[in-house]
Amino acid sequence: MLPCQRHLFDIPADVAYLNCAYMSPLMKPVVEAGVAGLTRKAHPWELTPDKFFTGSDEFRTAAAQLVDCSAECIAIVPSASYGIATAARNLSLKKGQSVLVLAAQFPSNYYSWQRLAEDRGASLKVVAWPDDNDWTAAVLDSLSADVAIAALPHVHWTSGGRLDLVRIGAACRRVGAALALDLTQSLGALPFSVRDVQPDFAVAASYKWLLGPYSVGLLYVAPKLHGGKPLEENWIQRANASDFSSLTYTEDYDEGARRFDMGERSNFALLPAAERAMKQLLEWGVTQISETAGALNLQLASAAAELGFSAPAEPLRAAHYLALRRKAAIPRELPEMLARERVFVSVRGSSIRVTPNVYNTAEDCERLIACLRRIA
Ligand SMILES: Cc1ncc(COP(=O)(O)O)c(C=O)c1O
Repeated sequence: MLPCQRHLFDIPADVAYLNCAYMSPLMKPVVEAGVAGLTRKAHPWELTPDKFFTGSDEFRTAAAQLVDCSAECIAIVPSASYGIATAARNLSLKKGQSVLVLAAQFPSNYYSWQRLAEDRGASLKVVAWPDDNDWTAAVLDSLSADVAIAALPHVHWTSGGRLDLVRIGAACRRVGAALALDLTQSLGALPFSVRDVQPDFAVAASYKWLLGPYSVGLLYVAPKLHGGKPLEENWIQRANASDFSSLTYTEDYDEGARRFDMGERSNFALLPAAERAMKQLLEWGVTQISETAGALNLQLASAAAELGFSAPAEPLRAAHYLALRRKAAIPRELPEMLARERVFVSVRGSSIRVTPNVYNTAEDCERLIACLRRIA
């Protein structure tokens, strides 16, 4: 367990921010890294050509440590949807085959597959919401020979339902299905290793559990796919990009997953900020972050149970996520009611989604419970 890290953030004492799954706050040193990066553009004569490459590779190195792979396997993307679209462009799907997705999966990991299936005469196979909340068993049951691609998250974004990706990865390999992952609601708060799971692609937007800025993310690409087609063709993905004085056309791409980088990937403001945040996560340790958020959620779950709310237990639920339900409907205006009390959560579907992180205190949890007591 980590001691509370609130001092690193700019969160006023009267704010109980329990909504990391919506958007994390930035740490002060992350803001400083971003401001310093943006300020560099005020003096372009200091932005020497090597800076187009060094910052990107530093980002890759930190990202690679988080997903447990070589930096060569990391591409820089602006969003989860960009990573998923890259995966859809590079995975095989034939007429009559299917793409496996979860019921109510996040749209950025759905629409690309829907379009691909339409284009190829294939179909989407939707894993129904399991009554017992066991998504792993439900996915394993659905992984039949017709599934060419399993496009999945580690954690269901509304309920926090956790998938055992090690078992699912092994099952995909048995049936010959590719595995494309959206880790946006888990990476940074739930331990993950590409060595154990062996996905083909795995993407994570930076602005939630990676505690980074908006509009940047990482994409893991398995080595066997490094010869694939990027979504965009741009100068910096090519082998000769560092030679600014004689930049001509070449058929050859830069090494590893760099060919999948977005245009203007050397973002001088966002990359240093995202990298600084990832370094802090690595210093804390993802297991420790998970345990710290998990302890707050256990405290919340037990107090909420006394008010008639229930939530799946771990390990079917990820420790950093708590989706509270009750028999009576949740008032739609609950987030606004709570916001007036400076308590921040989300309502997703029929649940109150509570997602604390290392900056939250026991008092934040007590304030939420005091509010829930009033609507109970
Ligand atoms: C599971 C999941 N994936 C991705 C995203 C963000 O998608 P994008 O980066 O395409 O905007 C979210 C945002 O809530 C999410 O919950």
